Amino acid sequence: MKNRKIGIIGTGNVGATLAFTLAIKNICSTILLKDIRDDLSQAMALDISQATHALKLATKIIAIKDNKDFHDCDIVVITAGIARKPGMSRDDLLFTNAKIMKNVVEDIIQHNPTAILIIVSNHLDVMVYQALKVSNLSNNRVIGMAGILDSARMSHFIEEKLSYGIGEIDAQVMGGHGNDMVPLTSLSKVKDKNLQEVLNDKDIDEIVNKTKHAGAQIVELLGTGSAYFAPASSTAIIIDAILNDKKEIHPCAVMLSGEYGFNDIVAGVPVILGKNGVEGIIELNLDESQKFDFMNSVATVRNLIETLNSNN
Ligand code: LAC
Repeated sequence: MKNRKIGIIGTGNVGATLAFTLAIKNICSTILLKDIRDDLSQAMALDISQATHALKLATKIIAIKDNKDFHDCDIVVITAGIARKPGMSRDDLLFTNAKIMKNVVEDIIQHNPTAILIIVSNHLDVMVYQALKVSNLSNNRVIGMAGILDSARMSHFIEEKLSYGIGEIDAQVMGGHGNDMVPLTSLSKVKDKNLQEVLNDKDIDEIVNKTKHAGAQIVELLGTGSAYFAPASSTAIIIDAILNDKKEIHPCAVMLSGEYGFNDIVAGVPVILGKNGVEGIIELNLDESQKFDFMNSVATVRNLIETLNSNN
């Protein structure tokens, strides 16, 4: 285990599950938890710490009250914000969560000057953009977690159709973390077979549709709150890749500067993750229809940013 410190802002279900997942993975020495509700972060720190003692794990979990004690993290994950209720889209969270994001980033940036930020709050792409603007950090140091989650969901639905392939499915999703995300069916594979070789068009369409609405499906079923095991696991993958300088390729929401023909906009694209955060953006060869869908998805994010800016 490395001498590394991870900070988590927002210790609701995603933040707490992430802390537990990181502790089990044994990839950092310390995890700081902070929430607007001090009692919640304290409860989570106590419970997770006691779990690590039961499991004989070495990660220290500490609840923090004051911003000045939340310092020198290698990575800070921001999950703070309100979650969707049934019937709400991620867009409905825009104004409230943008304000929360601004306050949180301003609070942490001073005492965590070298941290990489991972954003989990929704609307994800807009929150990454907001965090970048507020923090003035370089683009490689602010990363949105969404593509890994959406790809995992697509993989789940592929396996559900096939009844085989667990651990052997490579599903690819690009674009914004909204209803117009872009599942890349022609670039997704089951072992070495293209999706089109193992599934018919109707099944593939169904998988695409279910993937786009997978988050909402869980929101509806839960009644209060949204998914957390898959979001937390997906965030842990980003942290592992950065802490261990893995240079792995994962889809993440990052600022584009000319890639795919877009500038000054955040979208989900495959990126290389290493110790510096985003160490490169991979430009896939998209066909015309994928380019069109990606453009649409980016346009949605741009509209939301404009709506946000025009109300500020
Ligand atoms: C979801 C939330 C995390 O997709 O956006 O479940």
